[in-house]
This record gives sequence, structure tokens and C-alpha cells, in this order.
Amino acid sequence: MREIKVGVLGLGVVGSGTLRILQENADDIAHRVGARLVVKKIAVQHLHKERAVMVDPALLTDNPQEVIDDPEIEILAELIGGVEPAHDYVLRAIERGKNIVTANKEMMAKAGHDLMEAAGDARRDFFFEGSVAGGIPIIGPLKESLAANKVREVMGIVNGTTNYILTKMSQEGAAFDDVLREAQAHGYAEADPSSDVDGWDAQYKIAILASIAFNSRVPVEEVSAQGIRAVTPRDIEVARELGYRIKLVAVAQQDPNGEAMQVRVHPAFLPVHHPLASVDGVFNAVLVRGDAVGDVMFYGRGAGSLPTGSAVVGDLIATARNILRGSTGRIGCTCFEKKRMQPIDSVETKFYARIHAADRPKVLASIAGVFGDFNVSIESVVQKAMNEDDAEIVWVTHRVREADLLGALDVISHLPAVRSVDNWMRVEE
Ligand code: HSE
Repeated sequence: MREIKVGVLGLGVVGSGTLRILQENADDIAHRVGARLVVKKIAVQHLHKERAVMVDPALLTDNPQEVIDDPEIEILAELIGGVEPAHDYVLRAIERGKNIVTANKEMMAKAGHDLMEAAGDARRDFFFEGSVAGGIPIIGPLKESLAANKVREVMGIVNGTTNYILTKMSQEGAAFDDVLREAQAHGYAEADPSSDVDGWDAQYKIAILASIAFNSRVPVEEVSAQGIRAVTPRDIEVARELGYRIKLVAVAQQDPNGEAMQVRVHPAFLPVHHPLASVDGVFNAVLVRGDAVGDVMFYGRGAGSLPTGSAVVGDLIATARNILRGSTGRIGCTCFEKKRMQPIDSVETKFYARIHAADRPKVLASIAGVFGDFNVSIESVVQKAMNEDDAEIVWVTHRVREADLLGALDVISHLPAVRSVDNWMRVEE
């Protein structure tokens, strides 16, 4: 049987899972492809580190250039992460005629377009299923199985760490900091949790998905990202009382005439019957709304060694099949349109706002008056006494622009009877 040689950069969490799957399922994979996938070289940082997978030490090198320059290697799996030096290695590998498989969301979100163009010009494959939502197939389906559709919206829970934290906060009534500390102790959250809890990880992922769904480049720096640090147990409780769950959502929508896109990451109230509301723990899910297919939801493990390895090996298999047929480079970048990004402050949704105010005549009316001045129409308001003098007032608005909501809340926070504007959040329908 023919052998197709694979080079690997990086033998961390994803690299180990990839290697393990290639070893354990080698025979099935060979039959499915019609060739054996043989890992020829693996570049690592530390040659003598203990590994989560059995690897012949003779395959290891601490010089990535050896992998990139090896003429027998037809597919390079870049599993290092981060923009540089991964981006530079991948470009050099394309120049040397290699097909590329990567799980690198940051590199794809920031430089994917140019890399895909370079691969397309060289008639080489460039696959990156593992870069979004780990083991969940979403990029392949968007590019192939759902290619018949105009996609109106992609909405996902694409960060397992924050979904785990919000689920725990919701189940235990615990505060963000306490759950984060516990998640770090169990290894579910990184020692530096910023990329996850501040929404950047989800920002990269939704930028990638939006760009594929809407056929356009999506400048990642224009994707608004707000994390979950400000979500409190009280917000979660209030959401539940009103029939909602709080989730960190990544949303990409295009307007009906297809000229502008809004791409954003933020915590949001989701109605309990929303398909994403019951996605709990470390799980991810992505909901795609197409004009022909309607709603399709993808659910599964968005991170981890074997799930992400599954996506990487799936891409290696797809590439190997194309090599055998002489058809690499068939699916390049699909960014053939140029759509405008809508700034976040003009994006309209419903909103929730929680305000702490004196419990006196005319207070409710004075707050409602300010909302009215800013064109913010109220859908519902619930007031609860906090003690003899104070009340908590929870507002849910109709669809309004964020700029109007924030303008109103700023004025409201200065009203004499208002003690504090405790929080606000978007409400998705
Ligand atoms: N850190 C990510 C998460 C997984 O928590 O989902 C890798 O993208």
C-alpha cells in the first residue's frame, strides 16, 4: 500500500491526540484512504520530555526546519498554536509544496486569508477543522455539506472553559472568582485564563466561522469581544426567574441584503427553550441558520486531546485522499465578497438591565422616562424590595441599539434616587 508521509509541528495536547489516533486507528484509516498515513518527523521544543503518547524517539527533532524541508513529507500538521512562529513555518512549508493541516485558531483568525491564498496558488490543500470547536465538524460542513445555503446566522457556544464556569455558577450559585479558581485547580481552566474568560478565544473562532459562512474576510480586531468576568450569581438567578439562561455566545449575522455583518462575543440571556440554552459544562455547540436547510445544530467536545485530534486526523485523511486523486487545492479561501462590519454599538437586540434604586414614589417613572428619552422601549419591568428603603428593578427592553441603552444607563446612574446600575446584558431571542 502506498504511504503518505506526514510531518508534525508540536506534540502537546493536540499533537499527542493526533498521534494516538493515527496509531490506534491506523488500519481503518489506511483502508478508508487507500494509503497509509505515516508520521515521518515531529518537531518538538524539548526532545526528552515525558509524552502522553508513545513515540519513536528517532522521529523527534527540535529543529522545525527539518520537518519543513523534508521532501518526502507531503502533509504538514501545524499543532503549535499562536501566530508566530507557526505562521512563518506554514508559509515556508507551502513554498516547499506541502499540504497544510492546522488547529491554530489565532493564526487562522489573524492571517488565514493570506495563508489560504498561498496554498491555493500552490494548488495545495489547507484544512483547519480543529481550529474551531475542537472535535465538532463545523468548518467542513459549512464549506461543503451546507454550501447550497445562504447562511443568515451562526451562533455558538465555542468556549468550553467559560461554559463550564457559567454552568457551575448556575448550578451552585457560586461567584465567578471561586468557580474559576476551582476550574484552574482541576485543570479545566488555564493558569492565565484571560484568553477564555475575556472572550478572545471565542472571538477568533467566530471570526473564522463568519468568514466562511458569509464569504468575506472578517477583520478579527473588529469582532467585539466581551467576556464573563462581570457575570454575577444574581444575574444568573434573575435570568432564571425570567425564563433565561446566561451563556457566553459567539454570534455572526448578516443583514438581509448581505452587505453588512455583525460578529460579536458576549454573555447573553438565552430563553430556556433556545437550542443553545441547554448546552452545559465543557461542551460546545454551533447553530447554523441557512436559507434552504433551516436550523442545523452541531454539538460535542470543543477541546481536548482526542476530540481535537479527531478533527486534525479527519483533515489529514481528506488531504491524503486529494493527494491520491491529484486534486489538492480544490477548496481554497471562499472570501469572494467584501462585507462591511457593523460596529457593536449600533447592533440592536433586546437588553436586560438591573438597577438598584430608592424605593420611593416616582423613582420607577423617572428611570422609565430616561429610557424613553433615549428611544429605549421597555418590554417588561420587575421590581423587588431589597430592604425597607431600596428596590432592585430589572428591566428587559425591546430591540434597541447598544449605544442608546448605554446612553440611557449613564444618565440613569446619575439620577439622585439611583444607587447603582448593577449590570446589563444582551438578550437573544
Ligand atoms: N480554551 C478553549 C476552551 C479550548 O476553553 O474551549 C481551545 O480552543
